[in-house]
Amino acid sequence: MFKKLTLSAFVALALSAGGAMAAGDAGHTHDVDFSFEGPFGKFDQNQLQRGLQIYTEVCSACHGLKHVPIRTLADEGGPHLPEDQVRAYATQFDIYDAELDDDRPRKPADFFPESSLSNAPDLSLMAKARAGFHGPMGTGISQFLNGIGGPEYIVSILTGYTGEEKESAGTTFYENTAFPGGWIAMAPPLYGEDVEFADGHSNELHHESEDVASFLMWTAEPKMMARKQAGFIAVTMLILLTVLLYLTNKKLWAPHKGKKFDL
Ligand code: HEC
Repeated sequence: MFKKLTLSAFVALALSAGGAMAAGDAGHTHDVDFSFEGPFGKFDQNQLQRGLQIYTEVCSACHGLKHVPIRTLADEGGPHLPEDQVRAYATQFDIYDAELDDDRPRKPADFFPESSLSNAPDLSLMAKARAGFHGPMGTGISQFLNGIGGPEYIVSILTGYTGEEKESAGTTFYENTAFPGGWIAMAPPLYGEDVEFADGHSNELHHESEDVASFLMWTAEPKMMARKQAGFIAVTMLILLTVLLYLTNKKLWAPHKGKKFDL
């Protein structure tokens, strides 16, 4: 019985590790080694800042981040911008204020704007919405070690254009190897060298794509690092408790060990 159980557990693990490879015509997503993957992974603060810059200069023309409070840009574990920079950043987006009955510049307490293009989806949660079973990582243990696949999907979309276009019902579609169905209504937003980084970091297409995908992973799960830390502490405590219980149990039964009982 026990053997059977272990066997099925192994089979389940193996399936979950390889399962998502067989995702049909869902588009091709390639693996990327992000700094935040695995049980000890962390966001790279500089990468998040570069991603924010790309989002601001390119993606925000169409896409919003309406679930993200601007003040969180100052959070530790996130882009960690100085408070004055966050205040300055917020002012570039106007918001309608009912009390003033007029537009005013945003403050850190406001959220990022919504998408300005009606058919461009909000990107706040995109990295998680497109994660999971569609990623290259499969599920279960494999995701635990290799990440959830959502940021990889975003990188694959941004780098997956073939250059082919077609018109359909008045809309232009662009062939994309990562997009399910193969044709996306978003024109290639990045070509490489779209932004200049203050620190001179590479702005090749695949670097830019990874930077903005990391940033979008952070918007989707800003507390990831705190969560991993809490999980680590919990697991350590449980291991400690297990050892203590084992020793207690041994000690408790030690006097009876080896004795024969007449029942
Ligand atoms: C010119 C407007 C425009 C810009 C700029 C733009 N996008 Fe898009 N994006 C769209 C539209 C429109 C769609 C919806 C496409 C569809 O559903 O076919 C979309 C869809 C997406 C999707 C979702 C794909 C899916 O699975 O549904 C992602 C991810 C995305 N964009 C990321 C980005 C990133 C990152 C940037 C900046 C580097 C960016 N976009 C810049 C218009 C834009």
